Formats: sequence, C-alpha cells, structure tokens
Amino acid sequence: MLNSADNTLLTRIGPGTPMGTMLREYWVPACRSAKLEADGAPEKVRLFGENFVAFRATDGRVGFLQEACPHRCASLRLARNEGNGLRCIFHGWKFSVDGECVDAPTEPRSQRERFAQSVPVRSHPTHEAGGLVWVYMGAQETPPPFPDFEFTQLPDTHVFPLRGIIKTNWLQGLEALLDSAHVTFLHATNLDSAVGRSLFLEESDMMLGDGAPVFEFDEKPYGFTEGAIRTELGDQDYARVREVVLPFFSFIPAAPTGARIVCCSIPIDDETTAQWYISYDADAPVDGSNLTLMGNWSGDPDHFNSDMGDESNLWHQDREAMKAGHWSGIVNRGNPYEDFAVQESMGTIVDRSREYLGTCDRVIYRARRMLLDAVRSYEATSTVPFTGPQAKLRTIRALSFAYPKTENWRDVRQALLTGHENA
Ligand code: FES
Ligand SMILES: [Fe+2]
Repeated sequence: MLNSADNTLLTRIGPGTPMGTMLREYWVPACRSAKLEADGAPEKVRLFGENFVAFRATDGRVGFLQEACPHRCASLRLARNEGNGLRCIFHGWKFSVDGECVDAPTEPRSQRERFAQSVPVRSHPTHEAGGLVWVYMGAQETPPPFPDFEFTQLPDTHVFPLRGIIKTNWLQGLEALLDSAHVTFLHATNLDSAVGRSLFLEESDMMLGDGAPVFEFDEKPYGFTEGAIRTELGDQDYARVREVVLPFFSFIPAAPTGARIVCCSIPIDDETTAQWYISYDADAPVDGSNLTLMGNWSGDPDHFNSDMGDESNLWHQDREAMKAGHWSGIVNRGNPYEDFAVQESMGTIVDRSREYLGTCDRVIYRARRMLLDAVRSYEATSTVPFTGPQAKLRTIRALSFAYPKTENWRDVRQALLTGHENA
C-alpha cells in the first residue's frame, strides 16, 4: 500500500508536476514511424496531458509541434503538409520541422519575415528507431543521449511495435508489466491453449505448475533484474528473469535467442496510457507472430485493443465460457486483453492506500520505492535517475530457462548471456 500523498506524487504527470517533470527527461515513443508519410496527414499525439502533432516533411524528417496553431489555436491536424512544413489552413501560417514559423502571409509584406521569426512555436526533438518515432519533451537545451537498447539498434524489419491504449494511469500499466505472479492465474487458459503451448512449449507447464514463485532482485543502474523462480515443479527449477528499465520498460523473459518482447507504459494523460508491445529479433526479421498470445486483436496496430470493451460490458467477459473451464472468461483475446480488463477494473487511478500486499507483490513494492526515491532525488538534484554510461542498455536481454536444482539461476543466466554480452 501507499499513502495517498505518495500515490499522488507517483501518478500525476501533467505539466509542472514533479513526476511529469522527471518523466519528460526521457526519450519516449510517440507513434509508429510507418504512420507518418512524407507530406501526408499529421498524426495527433497526446503525451503527458498535452496535445501535439507529429508529421513527416517532404525531405523525410519528422517534426513534433504543439497541436494548436500558435496564431489562433486551430488544430494543425488539419494543416497542409507541403514544402517541408505544416501550413495552417486557417490563415496560411507555416511551421518547419525545427519548430520555426517560416511564413505568415496575413502580415504586410514589409514586415512578414520579421513577424514570422517572432512567433513562438512549441516543438520537441524527435528520433526514429525500432520502427518508432521517439520524442524528448524535457527542459534541457540539448536532449540526452538516445537509449541504445538492442531493439533501437535494429533495422525496422527486425522490430514490430503495437500500441494498446488503456483508460488508466501509467503506473497501473507499468505495474501489470512487472507482475510475474499473475500469469499462472489470469493467463492460465491462454498458457494452456494450443497457441500458448506452441509458443512456450514445456514452459507453459512450468508457469502453470507453481503459482507462488520466489522473487529475487539485483539492483542495476537502469532499474533492476527480477528473477521469478519456480521450484515446486519436479527435477528442474524454472527462472523467469525480467529486466526492468525504469521508469518505463519491462523486458519480457524469453528463450536466449529468437524473437522477444519489450513492453512500456507511456503516459498519455493522468488517466490514459499507451501500452506498447514491441516484438524484436536481433538475428531475423519479425512479423509479430510471437505476439500471437495477443489473440485476435482489432487489426489496428496503433490501437490494437480498440474492441476490448469497457466496464459497461465487463470487457466482454463470458460467464458461460468460465463455467466451461475458461479462467478469465475473456475468450480468444490473448494476454493483453486480460491484463487491460483487470487494470481498468481498478479504476483510472487506483487508490493504493486500500491495498493489502503480499509476498507476490515484492516487485511492485520495489518499483514504487525506487520511483519515489527517484522523483525526490530528481527534485533535489536535477540528476536524471536510471541513466548514464553505467546503465549499459545495449546488452539487456530478459531470459526464461529451466535448470538443474543444484545450480544457481544467476550463474545459468550469466552463461546463457555470455556470447550476447560480449557481442
Ligand atoms: S489559426 Fe493557424 S494561421 Fe491562423
Ligand atoms: Fe499479464
């Protein structure tokens, strides 16, 4: 549980809030790169409670501007995208990728250029990597180094991002991504399904076979490593070793090679969150097929859960299916639909003072403490937590593996990673 002042400190991310100010100091995904065509329609992006448009200019560069035209606030979603800039359809003022007003044709010719230069335009730097447009919304003149995750170094063919949108605060999204104990229950039917078994093989039985894993943690400069160790299985133990890169990312445990998944929860506003599922493979192109546990998603990669329902229809929970053996009753919809239903069912910003935590919540508790420490230390020192050369993002891989009971999971993990970390 968390007292209500700490809950507010962690969850409120609007302009000027302590957490909002800290979170803006990180590069965050704004939209899929493929969504933006040169001279095509600008894309509305809402982040941290503020509205923007992203657009790809004639020369391919991506701009990220305030949605409201600096003149009289008409939406730049309606703007013409031409000649390396957005031209507002209301009075024809034009804005460049660099966030400058380059034309104000309603002004007298003699002063037009000077006037245009004086127009204040809010824009933020962008960077494309991993099939995504990323944006830096922080206060520094020079943006921080771009995070060199394994997946942000790969060609777009090797990365497949999908965005879910949930009606909850960002921390609820993050906490669901850290929670290793729930898979045995919430996702039981999916793990036991033909698709689940084809993806996880014997690991399905290992996850289903022990609902009370032992959690062990190693603190890291970027966050922490979380080992969920299942020991009540038979002649082998089973480790799911998650990598948590605070404040946003959870790398999902998978086999040492092959396609893997990283997730992140990015605040749209206090009560809405973009939850990204990003499939990637360092060695081969990916088509998202390792996301098939997502079941029949809506088909819209920018809002894959648009058909998930809401509280009014209990997220399409099917009681007959539950009587027939389905655990959650959210049928043929895959893990994220189940996750999202329980997350939304808590309310948009859960009151954490009403919780009663158990052993399985140690990871949640740890993440909250680290984020509270981080936001307080950032307020005091202006040093951005979880970053810097020690963080070594590039070599992060989250692994799942069975191993002999006589061995230690940390040693097994290290041996499995050796080739990768030296690469
Ligand atoms: S409102 Fe955009 S140019 Fe006038
Ligand atoms: Fe889940």
